[in-house]
Amino acid sequence: MDTGGQYCHLIARKVRELGVSSEVFPSESPIDALRHAKGIIISGGPSSVYDHSSPTMDPAVLSAGIPTLGICYGQQLITQLLGGDVRKGDKGEFGLAFLDLHTTGSRLFAGLADHQKIWMSHRDLVAVPPTGFRVLASTTTCATAAIEDEARRLYGVQFHPEVVHTTEGVRILENFLFGICDCVKDWNPANRVALIEDQIRERAGERSVFFFVSGGVDSTVAFLLCLEALGSERVCGVYVDTGLMRQGETDFVEETFAGLGHDVVTIERAEEEFLGPLEGVHEPELKRHIIGEQFVKVQERIMAARGLADGTWILGQGTIYPDTIESGGSARDQSKTATIKTHHNRVPGIQKLIEQGLIIEPLADFYKDEVREIGREMGLSSALLDRHPFPGPGLAIRCLCSAEEHPVTRFSEGWLVPVHSVGVQGDSRSYAPVLAIDTFPSAAARLQDEATELVNRSVGVNRVMACVASREPIGRQKVFASYITHGRLELLRRADGIVREMSRESGFDKNVWQFPVILIPLGAGESRDSVVLRPIGSVDGMTADSVTMPDGLLHAMAGRILEIPEVAGVYYDLTHKPPGTIEWE
Ligand code: XMP
Repeated sequence: MDTGGQYCHLIARKVRELGVSSEVFPSESPIDALRHAKGIIISGGPSSVYDHSSPTMDPAVLSAGIPTLGICYGQQLITQLLGGDVRKGDKGEFGLAFLDLHTTGSRLFAGLADHQKIWMSHRDLVAVPPTGFRVLASTTTCATAAIEDEARRLYGVQFHPEVVHTTEGVRILENFLFGICDCVKDWNPANRVALIEDQIRERAGERSVFFFVSGGVDSTVAFLLCLEALGSERVCGVYVDTGLMRQGETDFVEETFAGLGHDVVTIERAEEEFLGPLEGVHEPELKRHIIGEQFVKVQERIMAARGLADGTWILGQGTIYPDTIESGGSARDQSKTATIKTHHNRVPGIQKLIEQGLIIEPLADFYKDEVREIGREMGLSSALLDRHPFPGPGLAIRCLCSAEEHPVTRFSEGWLVPVHSVGVQGDSRSYAPVLAIDTFPSAAARLQDEATELVNRSVGVNRVMACVASREPIGRQKVFASYITHGRLELLRRADGIVREMSRESGFDKNVWQFPVILIPLGAGESRDSVVLRPIGSVDGMTADSVTMPDGLLHAMAGRILEIPEVAGVYYDLTHKPPGTIEWE
C-alpha cells in the first residue's frame, strides 16, 4: 500500500523478485479491494502521521486477519490507528544504522543474527507501541526499530528492508512472505505480459487507444502491448518528427513499425512548428518550455483532427515508474510525494486526462530494466530494447547557444570557454562556463576525478573538458553568437551519427549507459562550432561517471568528425554528475 514513499514500488518489485505476485494499491483503498491479498505491506512515506491530511488507511484492514507489515511510515500508521503514540524523535536517523534484536522466536527475524546492518531514514518514531505489541529490536537512536503483535498478525519495522543497504533485508521479506503469509513461489516473470494485457483490456473497456510514440524503449513496448491486447483496429500511433531528432531516427521508427500494417503508426512532420519558435532563443529553460508547449499544441491538433476527443478513445503513454516518482507521486496518488522535476508525461494537460480516466499507462509500475525484460519476453529485438535513453526535448538541449560573441580567456589550469551549460551542485542547478584544458587526452582521461576537484576549486566553472583535436589552439578561438538553426542541427546530427556508428561498430556502446554528443559555438574563422563527446556510465541517470574511452577509438572518432569543415575542434567531457549534469542543455 502506497503512502507516497519513493521506495513503494521497490518493495513491490522485491516481492515479485522473490517469486510472489504483488500489486501496488493506494493506502486508502477500502478493505473490500484487498480481501484477495495473502499479505499486505504498507510503504514508507515523507509525511508525518499526526499531520492533517497525511496518508492514512482503512482501519478495517488491520482487523481483517491478513498479515500486515508496516515499513517506516507504515509502522507509524499502524501504531497511530491502534492507539499507540508516534512522535518526532530528538534527532533524525538517516542512512546506515545497526539493529539489535532483543527477542528470540519472532518469525519476522527467524534465522537472523542479533546484530546487523540496516538502513534508516526517519525523524518520527513510535514512542509507545499499541497495546498487544512487543518491541523486537532497537538502534541507538530508535528504541522501537521493530514491533509485532503475533495474535493480530501485525508487524512493523522502522528501517527499510527493501533497500540493498539493509544487509538481511531480503531475508526479512522472505520471512514475512513465506513464514508469516504462507505465500508460495509461483510468480513467474514470464506471466507478466499476459497479466499486463489483461489489465489493458480491462482499463480500455470498449474504447480504443491512441499513442504518441517516440521510437524509445518505453513508448514502443507500451504501444506494442496495447496492440497485442486490443488488436490493430483499436490502437493507433503517431510519431511526431520535431526536427530535433537524431540522424536516421524517423527511418528507424518507420522500419520498426512497418510490419504492423497500414497506418497503425503514422509520421507527422512538424519541424517548423518547433524550430520557428526556437529562433533567437539561447536560454536552456526557455528552450525546454517552448518545446513542451509546442508538443502540447501539436498533440491537440492531431487529436482534434482525428476526432479523438469523442469519448471512444483514450491516450496511451509509455510512462515508467521513475517518471512518476520524479514528478511527485505514484500514478495513482499524485499529491503526497515531493516533486523533483516534472516529467513531460505529467504536465497539467495530461494530469487532467488522468483525473478523467482517459489515460492508459501499462508500464507505470515498472523500472527500465523490467521494461526491457518485458520487451524480450514479447520477442522484441535487442536493437530496439537496448537503445540508450534519449531526452524528450531532443537535440535542442545538445545544441548550445550563446546570445553574444565572447573571447576565450586564460583561467587557472586551462582556458575559460564562456559557453554556459547546466550543472548540479548540492541540491541546486548551476549555469556556468566550461574550463577547457589542452592536455593530451590520454593523460586527460586520468583527470576525471581531478576534474571534480577542479570544478570545486574554480569558482564559476561547472565542467572540465579536454581538447582531443582542434584546427587552432584554444586561445585563438572564440565563442560565436549562435542559436538553434537548421544548419547547426544538421552539423550536430552528422557528428552524432559518426559517434553512434563508430561506438556501435567498436562495441564501445555496450560500455556506456548513454553517449550524448554536444555542439558548442566555439571556433575560429569559418569553423564556428566544436563537438563535445560525453560518454557516461550510470544506473539510473541520477548520478553518472565520465567514462574513459580507448585512445584509438577517441582519436579515430575525432579525426572523422574533423573531416566536417564547419567543425573547429573535438573535446571530451571529463566531468562526473555531480558536479556536471549529463546533458549540457
Ligand atoms: P541530466 O542532464 O539531468 O539528465 O543529468 C539525466 C537523464 O535524463 C535524461 N533527460 C530527459 N529524459 N525527458 C526525458 O525523457 C527530458 O526532458 C529529459 N531531460 C533529460 C538525460 O538524457 C539523462 O539520461
